[in-house]
Amino acid sequence: MLLFLDTADISEIRERAGAGLVDGVTTNPSLIAKSGADIMERIAEICDAVEGPVSAEVVATGHEGMLEEGRRLRAIADNVVVKLPLTQAGLKTCAVFAREGIPTNVTLCFSLNQALLAAKAGASFISPFVGRIEDAGGDGIGLLERIREVYDTHGFTTQILAASLRSPAHVEAAALAGCDAATLPAKVFDQLAAHPLTETGLAAFLSDWKKTGKSGLL
Ligand code: E4P
Repeated sequence: MLLFLDTADISEIRERAGAGLVDGVTTNPSLIAKSGADIMERIAEICDAVEGPVSAEVVATGHEGMLEEGRRLRAIADNVVVKLPLTQAGLKTCAVFAREGIPTNVTLCFSLNQALLAAKAGASFISPFVGRIEDAGGDGIGLLERIREVYDTHGFTTQILAASLRSPAHVEAAALAGCDAATLPAKVFDQLAAHPLTETGLAAFLSDWKKTGKSGLL
């Protein structure tokens, strides 16, 4: 499963990109606005920092505007994935980009039918928003499972990108649901490696080693 960072903070990305665990980055208009950066410049910086897919979202709501913005975003770098909202215009634009070979991430997915339409439109990625579904009292992980089943049953190749993940438990559930990718905030990304028993176990190992009188192995 691919792991993406869900942020437009270039420091957060650069700090983690070197470890070989970040497969890509997703952004959205809220994250770009929060960063205070110019979107074109920031997407270019992110594309320099990571080799994998970098999702950059249009803000136009009409088909023609989405085409224009999407093409401008895609021109920034070869690893840009054009992010489109799951609306009629977004799906229409997705289908055009699919025919042109431009990769897309269809975002703001909250239902199985929406995921079905995105796949039929040729989306490269579908982004179901797990956390926001749960905020509304729904079953976000259940949606991931149902999309996996439908895509497998009908042979759709659109990759399921679990989004709006808020905890390590969400990441585990997305992996168990068979998602192709998950995008997570830096804070959650950092929590994946942490376990209290790892910390106490390591402390005990080091304490025992110290008793040998050696500072390192040799
Ligand atoms: C995904 O592409 C979105 O940018 C993101 O996961 C949304 O997460 P949020 O619901 O925590 O804002």
